[in-house]
Amino acid sequence: MKTKTITCTVNGQTRALLVDIRQSLLEVLRQDLQLTGAKQGCGVGECGACTVLIDGEAYDSCLYLAVWAEGKDIRTIEGEAHDGQLSNVQTAFITEGAVQCGFCTPGVIMSVTALAEHSCQCDRDSLKKELSGHMCRCTGYQNILNAAEKALIKAD
Ligand code: FES
Ligand code: FES
Repeated sequence: MKTKTITCTVNGQTRALLVDIRQSLLEVLRQDLQLTGAKQGCGVGECGACTVLIDGEAYDSCLYLAVWAEGKDIRTIEGEAHDGQLSNVQTAFITEGAVQCGFCTPGVIMSVTALAEHSCQCDRDSLKKELSGHMCRCTGYQNILNAAEKALIKAD
């Protein structure tokens, strides 16, 4: 096993991590850091359940090697609430009833968070395209889109 030490920021904390060079960022987050909010769904970049933010952009962490995270700012769902206050996006998902089993939810919230932080002026159709990489096995797409719209309006 070939390993490498990387230094990155995870949810605002600087971390030095010894990683197997073959490990995905998702594996390191879930297994080494016990940040289990990002989910392993398909493992091949199809479902979006593993989405995290890397330097403010949404990525499928199952396809992102942990060694590529050297020097990066990583954000997961665990870091989105501050001082016990949920983020606007998290709150919108609750008020719009956009959470059923919750498996897809952390990933979708991270993607919507990236859109909000990039001041996305997405209409419903563009939002569908932006979030097309996320699969919801509970098929709660309408409420997810409602929540995303609400969160983006609040971000204006
Ligand atoms: S687990 Fe990464 S895209 Fe499905
Ligand atoms: S809420 Fe169950 S997979 Fe989306």
